[in-house]
Amino acid sequence: MAGTPFTIPPEKIPRHVAMIMDGNGRWALSRGLPRLAGHKAGTENLRRVIRSSVEFGVKYLTIYAFSTENWGRPPEEVKGLMFILEDVIDRELAELSKEGVQLRHIGRLERLPPNLQEKVLDALDATKDNDRLVLNVAFNYGGRDEIINAIQHIMKDGVPPEEVTDELVSRYLYTAGTPDPDLIIRTS
Ligand code: FPP
Repeated sequence: MAGTPFTIPPEKIPRHVAMIMDGNGRWALSRGLPRLAGHKAGTENLRRVIRSSVEFGVKYLTIYAFSTENWGRPPEEVKGLMFILEDVIDRELAELSKEGVQLRHIGRLERLPPNLQEKVLDALDATKDNDRLVLNVAFNYGGRDEIINAIQHIMKDGVPPEEVTDELVSRYLYTAGTPDPDLIIRTS
């Protein structure tokens, strides 16, 4: 990696890094700034994390950005977070795609504003053939919701109970096809 004073043996590079975005609000408040300023700064950091992941050869990066619980935040913060996601897609997608980033979404798109849903779907489609880094963006994601979603689809597909195995459930999770994370980072 250009400018890096050390090299890391390839076998030490985690294949899948997951990052829980946290502490944005506290970071901003401690500087007398509105919470949204913290979310914007967190998003700037994300750009560096994505670039470094590509350069170091991480294959999967999962970002937990907006949980199902985050709907309970003040409406203007929720609106601001939707805007940030939209803005990132508008401004960064072409560059991310050039770097070989394949965007995936985990969670439920349904509750997002319709124009944002469309933008996300277009971004997924535009990057689907990229293969340097899979970037899973968890937006309107919840662990319990993921289980509910999996059970609903397993039942819709009429899978008999005795065929419900660990391997089958994995195929119904939002993260189907993605190896489990090797490193989970919770920023704060
Ligand atoms: C946690 O900080 C962060 C969030 C709830 C939202 C992070 C999401 C974004 C910045 C949207 C952009 C995402 C992408 C993928 C472009 P916090 O407010 O819980 O911080 P606190 O713990 O200090 O209160």
